[in-house]
Amino acid sequence: MFYILEVKKLEKSFGSHKVLDEISFSVEKGKILVILGMSGCGKSTLLKHLIGVLKPDRGEIRLLGQEIMRLKPEELDQLRRKVGILYQSAALFNSMTVGENVAFPLREHAKLDEKIIQIVMRIKLELVGLSGFENLMPSQISGGMKKRVGLARALALDPEIVFYDEPGAGLDPVTLAMIDQLILDLSRKLGITSVVVTHEIQSAFRIADQMVMMHGGKILAQGSPSEIRSSDNPIVRQFMTGSAEGPIPMKRESDEYLKSLMG
Ligand SMILES: Nc1ncnc2c1ncn2[C@@H]1O[C@H](COP(=O)(O)OP(=O)(O)O)[C@@H](O)[C@H]1O
Ligand SMILES: [Mg+2]
Repeated sequence: MFYILEVKKLEKSFGSHKVLDEISFSVEKGKILVILGMSGCGKSTLLKHLIGVLKPDRGEIRLLGQEIMRLKPEELDQLRRKVGILYQSAALFNSMTVGENVAFPLREHAKLDEKIIQIVMRIKLELVGLSGFENLMPSQISGGMKKRVGLARALALDPEIVFYDEPGAGLDPVTLAMIDQLILDLSRKLGITSVVVTHEIQSAFRIADQMVMMHGGKILAQGSPSEIRSSDNPIVRQFMTGSAEGPIPMKRESDEYLKSLMG
């Protein structure tokens, strides 16, 4: 079996706070893996490791057949070109038009003719349903459209895998359902592998082929959506039903984290 992404026994602590604890999972080509968990459980930290932004204390990450901790900076750069990332806030450049945002990776990483850049940019905007929007500024479009522009930009270099950090953040349920449909289409029609980090349970079940349920830096359960749905782990069950009653305690943030936020 060839896995696009394989993670083995990943561990990371910030000070005395263990944020990732023996995290292991893998993703097959073309599939959608959803990493589900409450705020603060370590999802974004995990994503940052998967794209080589953070280094783990222990463990292994194989992305597109490469052991990312062993790569030299320029090799990691090369690998990142095959990876699309949609950040929580879409992270568009506000001083650039929609089209310039989507074209940005093409100008940065590929030596292409301006004509080709324009064509590819239009194809990517078409893919996310935003044909004809290239001359608008980010301030002129809605939050859901910004996410789609961010996705078009993430797709600019034809990635083999796309990472999504909370694609539903700040979106209404209907717009989120549309983003979910796009993620499904990219997987089913183009064979793009997806890793989606979210706390939105409905969205997770709409798109997931496989699920990893995280809590307090650990994996509580993983498997197909039906396996997760029928889990008898009380924390998984509480999360599924979104109930305030159950074993999940109110989380106390560490003093070290508070200090790091205050600089
Ligand atoms: N740079 C950091 N320094 C110290 N602690 C951090 C840092 N980043 C994250 N954390 C801690 O790790 C926990 C997980 O954070 P994060 O991965 O952002 O969670 P999630 O994305 O699931 O909401 C947070 O609750 C926080 O306590
Ligand atoms: Mg997060």
